[in-house]
Amino acid sequence: MNTLFNLPPIWMAPMAGEASSAALVAAVSAGGGFGQLGAAYLAPARIGEIAADIRARTDRPFGINLFCPQPWLRDDDALDAYLARLAAWHAELGLPAPTRPTQFEEDFDAQLEATIAARPAAISFVMGDPGVARVAALKAQGFKVLGTATQVAEGLLLQASGVDAVIAQGYEGGGHRGGFLGAKQEGALLGTMALVPMLVDALDIPVIAAGGIADARGVAAAQALGASAATVGTAFLLVDECPLSPTYRAALLAAHDADSTLTRAFSGRLARGVANRVTRELADVTLPAFPQPNAASRPMRQAAARAGEADFISLWAGQALPLNRAPGTAAQLVAALAKGWRA
Ligand SMILES: Cc1cc2nc3c(=O)[nH]c(=O)nc-3n(C[C@H](O)[C@H](O)[C@H](O)COP(=O)(O)O)c2cc1C
Repeated sequence: MNTLFNLPPIWMAPMAGEASSAALVAAVSAGGGFGQLGAAYLAPARIGEIAADIRARTDRPFGINLFCPQPWLRDDDALDAYLARLAAWHAELGLPAPTRPTQFEEDFDAQLEATIAARPAAISFVMGDPGVARVAALKAQGFKVLGTATQVAEGLLLQASGVDAVIAQGYEGGGHRGGFLGAKQEGALLGTMALVPMLVDALDIPVIAAGGIADARGVAAAQALGASAATVGTAFLLVDECPLSPTYRAALLAAHDADSTLTRAFSGRLARGVANRVTRELADVTLPAFPQPNAASRPMRQAAARAGEADFISLWAGQALPLNRAPGTAAQLVAALAKGWRA
């Protein structure tokens, strides 16, 4: 196969949270795509278990993705103010008042160790530069190492760190912004159409397009812009194998194009999803830094998903959501997307 790293050209984006399931990743890889596990919120032991589950389902290659550790300052005053905002919604959901989380994030080094032990074909990083030493160590162990850029300067830093390829994440894409430069270390807001060719021109390593690709037309466009593979996130949320809560799924099926918004309301870090009461009511509120709100809002989000209250869950999805709302199985979506890629 004359494709990037001998992997298929259609990649499923790693998606931490509800979509990080063995069944989905395996279905994508078995179906002719490159499935990736979003492992950022998984305890290290779970990473190993899910990777073993993927392997039990398919012998095709898959990837694992982690959030680079980000410096953040604990701010209990800001956290308490955020908890006070959540309190009214907790009451609506019949939950006890929110409290300060005891754990804010997983141990990155332990996650990376578990990821290495899981032997994926590729390890990708987002929200940071893994750095020369880490990249060299991973490459020496036979992994393809990928970084995520939302602007050229990030791509150049990642290239200097030695990554094998850069994922260009455009503004259209769902979920958290994956950049790491700028005042809030969230990167830039460049569209995929502009970002991909700028990175292709600036870098000597392959570029993978992500953001707003939902059907064969988007895949063809990504290839025309110079991308070496196309990454699709949002459209895979609606395939049969994706274990989304019925609340999340129904909200994605009902959303209009203009409902797409960027928000920090659920996590403290900029992310794209479908607007709801939480994104609207916290639009102008200053929040504690990521990951404090992410951990603090988790009980509300989980309870709301169970209760069918889409106004209180993070409905991560990209701008192209309405383009492909009945994708069928993962294999059907991979096949439909692959029609846009010229061998
Ligand atoms: C629900 C969801 C979760 C995501 N989680 C991650 C993640 O854990 N790591 C990551 O690198 N990107 C994550 N992303 C961003 C994707 O990697 C990708 O950039 C984006 O989905 C591409 O745009 P699209 O949604 O328009 O297809 C997530 C996206 C979504 C929709």
